[in-house]
Amino acid sequence: MRHLMNPLDFTVEELDELLALADDIEANPGKYAHACDGKKLATCFYEPSTRTRLSFEAAMLNLGGSVLGFASADSSSAAKGESVSDTIRVISCYADICAIRHPKEGAALVASQKSSIPVINAGDGGHQHPTQTLTDLLTIHSLKGRLDHIKVGFCGDLKFGRTVHSLINALIRYPGVEFVLISPEELRVPSYIRTDVLEANDIPFVEMVKLEDAIGDLDILYMTRVQRERFFNEEDYVRMKDFYILDKAKMAMAKDDMLVLHPLPRVNEISVEVDDDPRAVYFKQAQYGVYVRMALILTLLGIQV
Ligand code: NCD
Repeated sequence: MRHLMNPLDFTVEELDELLALADDIEANPGKYAHACDGKKLATCFYEPSTRTRLSFEAAMLNLGGSVLGFASADSSSAAKGESVSDTIRVISCYADICAIRHPKEGAALVASQKSSIPVINAGDGGHQHPTQTLTDLLTIHSLKGRLDHIKVGFCGDLKFGRTVHSLINALIRYPGVEFVLISPEELRVPSYIRTDVLEANDIPFVEMVKLEDAIGDLDILYMTRVQRERFFNEEDYVRMKDFYILDKAKMAMAKDDMLVLHPLPRVNEISVEVDDDPRAVYFKQAQYGVYVRMALILTLLGIQV
């Protein structure tokens, strides 16, 4: 039995297969419409979510399966003090596969150790968000045509943004990938990403504060929101929240084929005037999230179509 905790749980070859499967699902949805007949997906979300939970549910429904679960800790027995380990043992009796989101780093891993069904980490605190990474990889691969030899700028809250940590981890395995890390001083990537992931693997990267100084050179700009819920005090959040606003004037400095990704939700960091720019692909990205989660469910359940 296989779980997904971290994008590195898949080899590059396995990721290639998964992305190819997602492409086939996009092209031939009818072929997969009954692939999961009789199977159940549980979504156990202890933290707010729109895209991740609903795209998982849409994915399972598109495959002919059904879904059950809870959307907040308050509406589950967590509110009565039940541990994640106990909850997953019970969910294992009800469902065939489970996606779990939790505010604590490592919660999904703990769940996977007690589970008798595949567990997917749908976000654990500020740590990892591997299925967003699969979504991001599929988006870049589909719209840019490659995952290698690209210059990727990450902008915003690089300290608490788990989607950033997961995507950096995944992209360093492709040749010729360079990073520009754009953040306020207080929101730089955690030191384990800088030293254990980037420096340890000799990956070229620079850290910058101003988006204007970086944007002209990028193939991908990955914008992120300031993660309010992970700040210790509201004052720091308020000081930082509008640090970056991507608008038409900044887009004018970017390459014609640069792509703007954002895991969403967007708060203020991308002005709505950018939405109509063909380089703004964050809503397409949300659509790719369904195909890739369909591919992931099939892969973890070992279902071949
Ligand atoms: C992200 C998350 O939950 O980390 N959202 C998502 O899953 N698409 C990004 C965020 O909340 O800022």
